[in-house]
Amino acid sequence: MQKLIDKAKIEHTLSKSEIVDILKEDSINQYLFKSADEVRKNFTGNEVHLRALIEFSNICRCDCKYCGIRRDNPKVERYRLEKDEILKLADFAVLSGYKTIVLQSGEDIFFTAEYLAEIITAIKKYDVAVTLSIGERSYEEYQVLKNAGADRFLLRIETTDENLYKKMHPGMSFENRKRCLYDLKSLGFETGTGSLVGLPEQTIESLADDILFYKELNADMVGIGPLIVHPETPLKDEKNGDLILAIKVLALTRLLLPDINIPATTAMETLHPQGRIMALQAGANVIMPNVTFEKCKKNYEIYPDKVSVDYSKLETDLKQIGRTISKKHGFRGNSDRPLT
Ligand code: 5AD
Repeated sequence: MQKLIDKAKIEHTLSKSEIVDILKEDSINQYLFKSADEVRKNFTGNEVHLRALIEFSNICRCDCKYCGIRRDNPKVERYRLEKDEILKLADFAVLSGYKTIVLQSGEDIFFTAEYLAEIITAIKKYDVAVTLSIGERSYEEYQVLKNAGADRFLLRIETTDENLYKKMHPGMSFENRKRCLYDLKSLGFETGTGSLVGLPEQTIESLADDILFYKELNADMVGIGPLIVHPETPLKDEKNGDLILAIKVLALTRLLLPDINIPATTAMETLHPQGRIMALQAGANVIMPNVTFEKCKKNYEIYPDKVSVDYSKLETDLKQIGRTISKKHGFRGNSDRPLT
Protein backbone atom coordinates (compact mmCIF):
# COMPACT_ATOMS: atom_id res chain seq x y z
CA MET A 1 0.00 0.00 0.00
CA GLN A 2 2.89 2.39 0.78
CA LYS A 3 4.23 1.71 -2.72
CA LEU A 4 0.88 2.75 -4.19
CA ILE A 5 1.01 6.01 -2.28
CA ASP A 6 4.62 6.58 -3.38
CA LYS A 7 3.59 6.01 -6.99
CA ALA A 8 0.71 8.48 -6.67
CA LYS A 9 3.09 11.05 -5.20
CA ILE A 10 5.18 10.95 -8.35
CA GLU A 11 2.73 10.10 -11.12
CA HIS A 12 -0.43 11.68 -9.70
CA THR A 13 -2.58 8.82 -10.94
CA LEU A 14 -4.31 5.89 -9.27
CA SER A 15 -6.89 3.44 -10.57
CA LYS A 16 -10.30 3.13 -9.00
CA SER A 17 -9.42 -0.14 -7.29
CA GLU A 18 -6.17 1.33 -5.92
CA ILE A 19 -8.10 4.29 -4.46
CA VAL A 20 -10.64 1.89 -2.93
CA ASP A 21 -7.84 -0.19 -1.37
CA ILE A 22 -6.29 2.89 0.23
CA LEU A 23 -9.65 4.21 1.47
CA LYS A 24 -10.42 0.85 3.06
CA GLU A 25 -7.07 0.41 4.84
CA ASP A 26 -6.64 2.53 7.94
CA SER A 27 -3.17 1.36 8.97
CA ILE A 28 -1.62 3.58 6.26
CA ASN A 29 -3.50 6.75 7.19
CA GLN A 30 -0.53 8.59 8.70
CA TYR A 31 1.64 7.74 5.69
CA LEU A 32 -1.10 8.93 3.34
CA PHE A 33 -1.55 12.22 5.21
CA LYS A 34 2.20 12.84 5.35
CA SER A 35 2.56 12.15 1.63
CA ALA A 36 -0.30 14.50 0.73
CA ASP A 37 1.25 17.13 3.00
CA GLU A 38 4.56 16.84 1.11
CA VAL A 39 2.84 17.15 -2.27
CA ARG A 40 0.94 20.21 -1.00
CA LYS A 41 4.21 21.77 0.12
CA ASN A 42 6.03 21.04 -3.15
CA PHE A 43 3.26 22.31 -5.42
CA THR A 44 1.59 25.11 -3.45
CA GLY A 45 4.08 26.04 -0.74
CA ASN A 46 3.52 26.84 2.91
CA GLU A 47 1.09 29.70 2.37
CA VAL A 48 -2.52 29.31 3.42
CA HIS A 49 -5.00 31.36 1.40
CA LEU A 50 -7.88 32.95 3.28
CA ARG A 51 -11.12 33.55 1.38
CA ALA A 52 -13.73 35.88 2.89
CA LEU A 53 -17.11 34.20 2.72
CA ILE A 54 -20.24 36.36 2.38
CA GLU A 55 -23.50 34.43 2.74
CA PHE A 56 -25.77 36.95 1.03
CA SER A 57 -29.07 35.04 0.82
CA ASN A 58 -30.40 31.88 2.45
CA ILE A 59 -33.41 31.67 0.14
CA CYS A 60 -33.19 28.48 -1.88
CA ARG A 61 -35.27 26.83 -4.59
CA CYS A 62 -33.59 23.47 -3.97
CA ASP A 63 -34.66 20.84 -1.49
CA CYS A 64 -31.45 18.88 -0.87
CA LYS A 65 -32.24 16.27 1.78
CA TYR A 66 -29.19 17.02 3.94
CA CYS A 67 -29.24 20.81 3.89
CA GLY A 68 -30.63 22.94 6.71
CA ILE A 69 -31.63 25.81 4.42
CA ARG A 70 -33.52 23.55 2.00
CA ARG A 71 -36.71 25.00 0.55
CA ASP A 72 -39.00 22.85 2.68
CA ASN A 73 -37.54 23.79 6.07
CA PRO A 74 -40.15 26.26 7.38
CA LYS A 75 -38.16 26.95 10.56
CA VAL A 76 -35.52 29.00 8.77
CA GLU A 77 -35.86 32.77 9.02
CA ARG A 78 -35.11 33.74 5.44
CA TYR A 79 -33.03 36.78 4.50
CA ARG A 80 -31.68 38.41 1.40
CA LEU A 81 -29.03 41.13 1.66
CA GLU A 82 -29.27 44.35 -0.34
CA LYS A 83 -26.55 45.18 -2.82
CA ASP A 84 -25.26 47.93 -0.48
CA GLU A 85 -25.05 45.50 2.42
CA ILE A 86 -23.10 43.00 0.33
CA LEU A 87 -20.72 45.75 -0.78
CA LYS A 88 -20.28 46.89 2.81
CA LEU A 89 -19.23 43.36 3.81
CA ALA A 90 -16.91 43.17 0.82
CA ASP A 91 -15.35 46.55 1.81
CA PHE A 92 -14.79 45.24 5.30
CA ALA A 93 -13.17 42.08 3.95
CA VAL A 94 -10.88 44.07 1.64
CA LEU A 95 -9.87 46.39 4.49
CA SER A 96 -9.13 43.34 6.62
CA GLY A 97 -6.67 42.16 3.98
CA TYR A 98 -8.59 39.41 2.21
CA LYS A 99 -7.58 38.86 -1.41
CA THR A 100 -10.61 36.79 -2.36
CA ILE A 101 -14.29 37.50 -1.75
CA VAL A 102 -16.59 34.50 -1.97
CA LEU A 103 -20.25 35.32 -2.64
CA GLN A 104 -22.34 32.37 -1.52
CA SER A 105 -26.11 31.93 -1.34
CA GLY A 106 -28.93 29.48 -1.67
CA GLU A 107 -30.23 29.11 -5.21
CA ASP A 108 -32.03 32.46 -5.08
CA ILE A 109 -33.05 33.54 -8.56
CA PHE A 110 -34.05 36.99 -7.32
CA PHE A 111 -30.35 37.58 -7.92
CA THR A 112 -30.35 37.59 -11.70
CA ALA A 113 -27.04 37.30 -13.51
CA GLU A 114 -27.32 40.99 -14.43
CA TYR A 115 -27.86 42.06 -10.82
CA LEU A 116 -24.99 39.87 -9.63
CA ALA A 117 -22.86 41.33 -12.43
CA GLU A 118 -23.39 44.83 -10.93
CA ILE A 119 -22.22 43.57 -7.55
CA ILE A 120 -19.21 41.78 -9.05
CA THR A 121 -18.23 44.89 -11.04
CA ALA A 122 -18.33 46.99 -7.87
CA ILE A 123 -16.18 44.51 -5.92
CA LYS A 124 -13.71 44.13 -8.78
CA LYS A 125 -12.73 47.81 -8.38
CA TYR A 126 -10.56 46.44 -5.58
CA ASP A 127 -7.53 44.25 -6.15
CA VAL A 128 -9.34 41.05 -5.19
CA ALA A 129 -10.48 37.83 -6.81
CA VAL A 130 -14.21 37.10 -6.77
CA THR A 131 -15.56 33.59 -6.27
CA LEU A 132 -19.23 32.72 -6.74
CA SER A 133 -21.10 29.89 -5.05
CA ILE A 134 -24.71 30.38 -6.14
CA GLY A 135 -25.67 27.07 -7.71
CA GLU A 136 -26.93 25.98 -11.10
CA ARG A 137 -27.51 28.52 -13.88
CA SER A 138 -27.50 28.50 -17.67
CA TYR A 139 -24.37 28.86 -19.81
CA GLU A 140 -25.54 32.35 -20.77
CA GLU A 141 -25.93 33.43 -17.15
CA TYR A 142 -22.51 32.07 -16.26
CA GLN A 143 -21.14 34.02 -19.21
CA VAL A 144 -22.63 37.28 -17.90
CA LEU A 145 -21.01 36.61 -14.52
CA LYS A 146 -17.65 35.82 -16.11
CA ASN A 147 -17.80 38.94 -18.26
CA ALA A 148 -18.49 41.01 -15.14
CA GLY A 149 -15.14 39.79 -13.80
CA ALA A 150 -15.90 36.80 -11.59
CA ASP A 151 -12.77 34.66 -11.36
CA ARG A 152 -13.87 31.44 -9.72
CA PHE A 153 -16.98 29.36 -9.11
CA LEU A 154 -17.75 26.68 -6.54
CA LEU A 155 -20.30 23.98 -7.27
CA ARG A 156 -19.91 20.65 -5.53
CA ILE A 157 -20.99 17.56 -7.41
CA GLU A 158 -21.87 16.28 -3.88
CA THR A 159 -21.74 12.63 -5.06
CA THR A 160 -21.03 10.94 -8.39
CA ASP A 161 -23.33 8.04 -7.52
CA GLU A 162 -26.17 8.96 -9.84
CA ASN A 163 -28.83 7.03 -7.90
CA LEU A 164 -27.78 8.53 -4.62
CA TYR A 165 -27.60 11.96 -6.26
CA LYS A 166 -31.23 11.59 -7.35
CA LYS A 167 -32.33 10.52 -3.88
CA MET A 168 -30.58 13.41 -2.17
CA HIS A 169 -31.62 16.12 -4.63
CA PRO A 170 -35.35 15.93 -5.42
CA GLY A 171 -36.21 17.58 -8.71
CA MET A 172 -32.59 18.06 -9.72
CA SER A 173 -30.59 16.33 -12.41
CA PHE A 174 -27.11 14.87 -12.21
CA GLU A 175 -26.64 15.59 -15.92
CA ASN A 176 -27.36 19.27 -15.41
CA ARG A 177 -24.97 19.44 -12.46
CA LYS A 178 -22.19 18.09 -14.66
CA ARG A 179 -23.24 20.37 -17.53
CA CYS A 180 -22.85 23.36 -15.20
CA LEU A 181 -19.36 22.28 -14.14
CA TYR A 182 -18.16 21.76 -17.71
CA ASP A 183 -19.73 25.08 -18.78
CA LEU A 184 -17.91 26.87 -15.97
CA LYS A 185 -14.63 25.25 -16.99
CA SER A 186 -15.11 26.16 -20.63
CA LEU A 187 -15.91 29.78 -19.73
CA GLY A 188 -12.55 30.05 -17.99
CA PHE A 189 -13.68 30.11 -14.37
CA GLU A 190 -11.32 28.50 -11.90
CA THR A 191 -13.82 25.81 -11.08
CA GLY A 192 -14.32 24.21 -7.71
CA THR A 193 -16.24 21.07 -6.95
CA GLY A 194 -16.27 18.46 -4.20
CA SER A 195 -18.33 15.98 -2.24
CA LEU A 196 -20.10 15.25 0.97
CA VAL A 197 -18.62 12.27 2.79
CA GLY A 198 -21.04 10.15 4.78
CA LEU A 199 -24.28 10.44 2.82
CA PRO A 200 -26.57 7.50 3.62
CA GLU A 201 -25.83 4.48 1.42
CA GLN A 202 -22.70 6.13 0.00
CA THR A 203 -20.07 3.50 -0.83
CA ILE A 204 -16.27 3.66 -0.73
CA GLU A 205 -16.36 2.81 -4.44
CA SER A 206 -18.43 5.91 -5.15
CA LEU A 207 -15.99 8.07 -3.17
CA ALA A 208 -13.24 6.71 -5.42
CA ASP A 209 -15.37 7.71 -8.42
CA ASP A 210 -15.74 11.20 -6.91
CA ILE A 211 -11.96 11.60 -6.78
CA LEU A 212 -11.60 10.36 -10.37
CA PHE A 213 -14.33 12.81 -11.40
CA TYR A 214 -12.33 15.75 -9.96
CA LYS A 215 -9.42 14.58 -12.06
CA GLU A 216 -11.51 14.13 -15.19
CA LEU A 217 -13.00 17.64 -14.82
CA ASN A 218 -9.53 18.97 -14.03
CA ALA A 219 -11.05 20.81 -11.08
CA ASP A 220 -9.09 23.82 -9.88
CA MET A 221 -10.45 23.56 -6.35
CA VAL A 222 -11.98 20.70 -4.40
CA GLY A 223 -13.93 21.10 -1.15
CA ILE A 224 -14.65 17.96 0.82
CA GLY A 225 -16.65 17.83 4.00
CA PRO A 226 -18.24 15.24 6.25
CA LEU A 227 -22.03 15.21 6.41
CA ILE A 228 -23.29 16.85 9.59
CA VAL A 229 -26.83 15.80 10.30
CA HIS A 230 -29.31 18.65 10.57
CA PRO A 231 -32.32 17.94 12.82
CA GLU A 232 -34.78 19.78 10.57
CA THR A 233 -34.05 17.70 7.46
CA PRO A 234 -35.17 14.27 6.21
CA LEU A 235 -31.71 12.95 7.18
CA LYS A 236 -32.25 13.79 10.86
CA ASP A 237 -31.93 10.16 12.02
CA GLU A 238 -28.75 9.42 10.08
CA LYS A 239 -25.20 9.40 11.44
CA ASN A 240 -22.67 12.17 10.88
CA GLY A 241 -19.97 11.51 8.28
CA ASP A 242 -16.60 10.11 9.34
CA LEU A 243 -13.99 12.87 9.68
CA ILE A 244 -11.01 10.58 9.05
CA LEU A 245 -12.59 9.18 5.90
CA ALA A 246 -13.24 12.73 4.69
CA ILE A 247 -9.59 13.64 5.31
CA LYS A 248 -8.49 10.52 3.44
CA VAL A 249 -10.56 11.61 0.43
CA LEU A 250 -8.94 15.06 0.72
CA ALA A 251 -5.43 13.58 0.90
CA LEU A 252 -6.00 11.35 -2.13
CA THR A 253 -7.37 14.33 -4.05
CA ARG A 254 -4.13 16.23 -3.27
CA LEU A 255 -2.04 13.30 -4.55
CA LEU A 256 -3.96 13.17 -7.83
CA LEU A 257 -4.37 16.93 -8.38
CA PRO A 258 -1.16 18.24 -6.84
CA ASP A 259 -1.42 21.98 -7.59
CA ILE A 260 -5.09 22.72 -6.88
CA ASN A 261 -6.63 24.66 -4.01
CA ILE A 262 -8.16 22.54 -1.28
CA PRO A 263 -9.94 24.09 1.71
CA ALA A 264 -9.85 22.77 5.22
CA THR A 265 -13.61 22.94 5.48
CA THR A 266 -15.62 24.34 8.36
CA ALA A 267 -17.55 21.05 8.55
CA MET A 268 -14.28 19.29 9.49
CA GLU A 269 -13.62 21.62 12.41
CA THR A 270 -17.27 21.47 13.46
CA LEU A 271 -16.93 17.70 13.90
CA HIS A 272 -13.60 17.86 15.75
CA PRO A 273 -11.71 20.81 17.33
CA GLN A 274 -8.54 19.71 15.52
CA GLY A 275 -10.35 18.95 12.24
CA ARG A 276 -9.16 22.03 10.41
CA ILE A 277 -5.52 21.59 11.44
CA MET A 278 -5.64 17.89 10.56
CA ALA A 279 -6.89 18.79 7.07
CA LEU A 280 -4.16 21.44 6.67
CA GLN A 281 -1.61 18.73 7.45
CA ALA A 282 -3.11 16.26 4.99
CA GLY A 283 -3.21 18.33 1.80
CA ALA A 284 -5.37 21.41 2.44
CA ASN A 285 -4.09 24.96 1.75
CA VAL A 286 -7.17 27.20 2.00
CA ILE A 287 -9.46 28.45 4.78
CA MET A 288 -12.73 30.29 4.25
CA PRO A 289 -13.60 32.54 7.20
CA ASN A 290 -17.17 33.79 7.28
CA VAL A 291 -17.49 37.59 7.27
CA THR A 292 -21.28 37.75 7.06
CA PHE A 293 -23.25 39.90 9.58
CA GLU A 294 -23.78 38.00 12.85
CA LYS A 295 -27.55 38.25 12.52
CA CYS A 296 -27.41 36.43 9.18
CA LYS A 297 -24.89 33.77 10.18
CA LYS A 298 -27.33 32.10 12.56
CA ASN A 299 -29.89 31.81 9.77
CA TYR A 300 -27.40 30.31 7.35
CA GLU A 301 -27.39 27.01 9.16
CA ILE A 302 -26.72 24.42 6.47
CA TYR A 303 -25.74 22.17 9.39
CA PRO A 304 -25.89 22.71 13.16
CA ASP A 305 -23.20 24.30 15.35
CA LYS A 306 -21.17 25.61 12.42
CA VAL A 307 -17.97 27.02 13.93
CA SER A 308 -16.31 30.27 12.86
CA VAL A 309 -12.65 31.08 12.45
CA ASP A 310 -10.97 32.84 15.33
CA TYR A 311 -8.37 34.91 13.49
CA SER A 312 -5.74 35.25 16.22
CA LYS A 313 -6.06 31.57 17.15
CA LEU A 314 -5.69 30.71 13.49
CA GLU A 315 -2.48 32.73 13.20
CA THR A 316 -0.96 30.93 16.21
CA ASP A 317 -2.14 27.53 15.02
CA LEU A 318 -0.69 28.11 11.56
CA LYS A 319 2.62 29.30 12.95
CA GLN A 320 2.86 26.16 15.03
CA ILE A 321 2.61 23.96 11.96
CA GLY A 322 5.05 26.07 9.94
CA ARG A 323 2.49 27.80 7.76
CA THR A 324 1.86 31.45 6.95
CA ILE A 325 -1.14 33.48 5.83
CA SER A 326 -0.83 34.36 2.16
CA LYS A 327 -1.13 37.94 0.91
CA LYS A 328 -1.60 36.79 -2.68
CA HIS A 329 -4.73 36.02 -4.64
CA GLY A 330 -3.85 32.36 -4.59
CA PHE A 331 -4.96 31.01 -7.92
CA ARG A 332 -4.27 27.38 -8.74
CA GLY A 333 -0.64 26.48 -8.11
CA ASN A 334 -0.29 29.43 -5.70
CA SER A 335 -0.04 31.73 -8.70
CA ASP A 336 -0.89 35.40 -8.75
CA ARG A 337 -1.96 35.67 -12.34
CA PRO A 338 -3.37 39.02 -13.49
CA LEU A 339 -6.95 39.51 -12.46
CA THR A 340 -9.64 40.01 -15.10
N1 5AD B 1 -23.45 18.79 6.35
C1 5AD B 1 -22.30 19.09 5.74
N2 5AD B 1 -22.21 19.82 4.63
C2 5AD B 1 -23.36 20.27 4.09
N3 5AD B 1 -23.60 21.00 2.99
C3 5AD B 1 -24.93 21.21 2.90
N4 5AD B 1 -25.56 20.63 3.93
C4 5AD B 1 -24.60 20.02 4.68
C5 5AD B 1 -24.63 19.24 5.86
N5 5AD B 1 -25.76 18.94 6.49
C6 5AD B 1 -22.56 21.39 2.04
C7 5AD B 1 -22.90 20.98 0.60
C8 5AD B 1 -22.85 22.28 -0.18
C9 5AD B 1 -22.01 23.15 0.70
C10 5AD B 1 -22.19 24.63 0.49
O1 5AD B 1 -22.41 22.80 2.00
O2 5AD B 1 -21.90 20.09 0.13
O3 5AD B 1 -22.31 22.15 -1.47
